[in-house]
Amino acid sequence: MRTALMILLGLVIGIIGTVNVMNVLSERNPMPKAVMHTLGHHMGALKSALENKQCDATKIQHHLARLESTATDITPVFGTEVADFTDHAHQLQDHLQQAVQAAPTTCAALAAVVKPVGESCKSCHDKYR
Ligand code: HEC
Repeated sequence: MRTALMILLGLVIGIIGTVNVMNVLSERNPMPKAVMHTLGHHMGALKSALENKQCDATKIQHHLARLESTATDITPVFGTEVADFTDHAHQLQDHLQQAVQAAPTTCAALAAVVKPVGESCKSCHDKYR
């Protein structure tokens, strides 16, 4: 009985320890998720602009510019040199650069530039997320 209790206690302590270590590891580098959440925030704003058919040119351009600059953080922040991953990041940057340069002023124009951007997010997520 005593042995069984000791084994159980050991297991519980082990589990608590593992959870703590995992938390510390993910807190040590919150940047990858922070960058993704920032991208998600601005993409969300653009999607709701499209849904509500309220495509204010100035607001749109702000979100596109924030997406463009945030996307340049992906590669350094994820700290990987895996060529295929950085290719995905570059593809996103290219599409965002095109979107910013297009400076859409209508919902139709916004939808056209957002589509390839969303596809770039998805293709990387399908593989690496
Ligand atoms: C080059 C690859 C790549 C591209 C491009 C990319 N992501 Fe991600 N994204 C990831 C990876 C990897 C994760 C998982 C990160 C993790 O769990 O630490 C992720 C996770 C996320 C998450 C969830 C974050 C969390 O806390 O779980 C959101 C939201 C997100 N991405 C939004 C976007 C949006 C929006 C775009 C496009 C504008 C985008 N991402 C483009 C690789 C990418």
